Amino acid sequence: MPAKSTAGSAQADNITMKAGGYYSLATTGAKDVIDGAWPLFERALKAMDLAGGRDDGSPFTMTDMGCADGGTSIDAVGRVLAWVRERAPLRPLQMVYTDQIRNDYNTLFRIGFGQGPIESYHGRIPGLHILASATSFYEQILPAGSLDLGFSATAMHWLSAKPCDISNHVHSTGAEGDELAAFQAQGRRDWERILLHRAAELKPNGHLVLLNFGRDEEGRYLGNTGGRHMFDIMNRLWRDSLASGAITEAEYRAMTLPQYYNSVAEFTAPLNDPDSPVHRAGLRLSHVETRVVRCPYALAFEAHGDAARFAREYIPTIRSWNESIYKGALSSKRGAAERDAIIEDYYGRYETLVRDDPEGHGMDYVHCYLVIRKEG
Ligand SMILES: C[S@@+](CC[C@H](N)C(=O)[O-])C[C@H]1O[C@@H](n2cnc3c(N)ncnc32)[C@H](O)[C@@H]1O
Repeated sequence: MPAKSTAGSAQADNITMKAGGYYSLATTGAKDVIDGAWPLFERALKAMDLAGGRDDGSPFTMTDMGCADGGTSIDAVGRVLAWVRERAPLRPLQMVYTDQIRNDYNTLFRIGFGQGPIESYHGRIPGLHILASATSFYEQILPAGSLDLGFSATAMHWLSAKPCDISNHVHSTGAEGDELAAFQAQGRRDWERILLHRAAELKPNGHLVLLNFGRDEEGRYLGNTGGRHMFDIMNRLWRDSLASGAITEAEYRAMTLPQYYNSVAEFTAPLNDPDSPVHRAGLRLSHVETRVVRCPYALAFEAHGDAARFAREYIPTIRSWNESIYKGALSSKRGAAERDAIIEDYYGRYETLVRDDPEGHGMDYVHCYLVIRKEG
């Protein structure tokens, strides 16, 4: 097995979901996760007591942090805003979409304003202002004390930086020893940083609804819920690319996903510890639970039984969120066509693998659902 260097890199810069609405169309499972969170939104909204004297003409501001093209959250965001509109008719509504600089904001606006392939709430809710900010959730996005409801789904597992390359794997779930410890420490620092910026943005009694990838109480996480281990397969196929001479050892090494999945204990520690900066900044845990949401493509396969169709539909959902990282690991000395060919070959082999032996494949989602309030 080739050893990877432990030098960090700026690979977090390569995170982008596939553009042109591909992300939302290929990622219906992420939409299921968000749509299923309505009881948590309702809980947060009720705790904000919007009907109880808060219809004072001041803006109600909601964020969707790490929104990608906005398609997966469109129904949930519309439902939240309609709920507020009904109970606080005088308050202007500000919906602020946020993601990284390289996100596909054209598609985001097309979807948000109802010009894209997905139906939007736009036009149905009076007094609504849709805005966007290309500010990372590792920074303060909004002015201090201006946020009512901060929301994020399936985004905060992306670290602010890769602490090291992992010598024998593509993902921190396969890391060991010092490399695992480096990812754990980065995960802890990054989670605290996210929360402290949100603590600054929130109004007193403002709330966060965060649906974050994580490890549940049984040790399950994305693509590892009892069947095949998705990240081990990704690693094996990438190593095969090395063995066949398609990529160099440096390119194998560079492919370390800058991600970490917090456990429930890691998510809740800074909120529960009275000595932590997060607790001192006024953030309190209102609710936490873990959920497994079945991979919609594996679920459909159980019904239709067509392995070729399953493979054809399943691989794009993986591709939608990690293709940019594989591409970023390839040498810039290669031409675009050559890089595309390596990537096509990689996902092509994954598709063949699933088509020829489909049992147990799937990308079940494992999330930690958190509701957090700012004291005041
Ligand atoms: C898997 S997508 C999730 C999109 C959508 N929230 C959903 O649940 O379907 C992750 C998104 O997080 C964004 N992201 C990653 N790191 C980020 C950061 N530091 N700040 C803001 N967005 C980030 C990515 O650009 C991407 O659009």
